[in-house]
Amino acid sequence: MAERVDCPFSLKGKVAIVTGGGRGLGQALALGLAASGAAVAVVGRTRSALDATVERISATGGRALAVNADISDLQEIDRIAKEVSSAYGRIDVLVNNAAASAPLKPADEVTPEEWDAVMRINLRGTFFLTTRVAREMKTAGSGSIINISSITEEVAGPKASVYCASKGGLRQLTRTLAVEWARYGIRVNAVAPGYIRTELTGELQDNRELNDYVTSRTPMRRWAKPEEFVGAVVYLASDASSFQTGQTILVDGGWTAW
Ligand SMILES: NC(=O)c1ccc[n+]([C@@H]2O[C@H](COP(=O)([O-])OP(=O)(O)OC[C@H]3O[C@@H](n4cnc5c(N)ncnc54)[C@H](OP(=O)(O)O)[C@@H]3O)[C@@H](O)[C@H]2O)c1
Repeated sequence: MAERVDCPFSLKGKVAIVTGGGRGLGQALALGLAASGAAVAVVGRTRSALDATVERISATGGRALAVNADISDLQEIDRIAKEVSSAYGRIDVLVNNAAASAPLKPADEVTPEEWDAVMRINLRGTFFLTTRVAREMKTAGSGSIINISSITEEVAGPKASVYCASKGGLRQLTRTLAVEWARYGIRVNAVAPGYIRTELTGELQDNRELNDYVTSRTPMRRWAKPEEFVGAVVYLASDASSFQTGQTILVDGGWTAW
């Protein structure tokens, strides 16, 4: 009889946290991770949205948990880690997906409040949730952290200086933490999407000129769908990527190729 080879992309037995798992890209990623076998905890500020994701996962026989929390609040960050650990006993994967964008405007019109509102979530909250969850991963001797970045970690976005700066910072966090934590068996990588039709890009979609810019500048001539990022995230979450750390996978319809 032939020897059985396990699928390297299987997430059976793993526990994943997805921030911003109640809608948009985060919901698609939560569903995709659950479909690959992981128990998934979705984190966000809107309870009803989280419950909807949990319901969809449970309806297909998966395991899911809603953690109603704001990642920009440091005390809530501690609660997120505790709730997931006490429900599932471990945390194998953290997908840092939650983020905010500032209104599109020239850089010299950005207010300190707009700057802080983006950085508080995209960098500060993400950083402190990551270091908190890494404590559990260090004890376990393994873990995969996946930062949802953006092509704007690499290239400029129109009238989006603050958002781009936050994603550029995330790129360096991905590298720095990967180097710092490799000795503990923790891998840190990023997925950088091109433009996706979600609430975050509502202003771009509603502006005809900017909408046309996105489709004509993308070699594939279209916006992405949230589910088109599941493959890259499942790969990074799974043992299939066991020797990969500190890297960004660009999934952008060819945007950064030219
Ligand atoms: N859409 C795109 O074109 C695009 C392109 C490149 C990269 N990305 C990245 O992909 C990720 C997801 O974007 P998206 O388009 O799906 O955005 P979205 O539709 O605006 O969803 C953002 C999610 O983050 C959650 N969130 C925001 N602030 C939070 C906080 N303080 N604490 C906890 N949860 C919070 C939101 O839930 P609550 O409001 O309920 O908390 C929501 O579930 C982001 O990192 C974004 O930068 C998006």
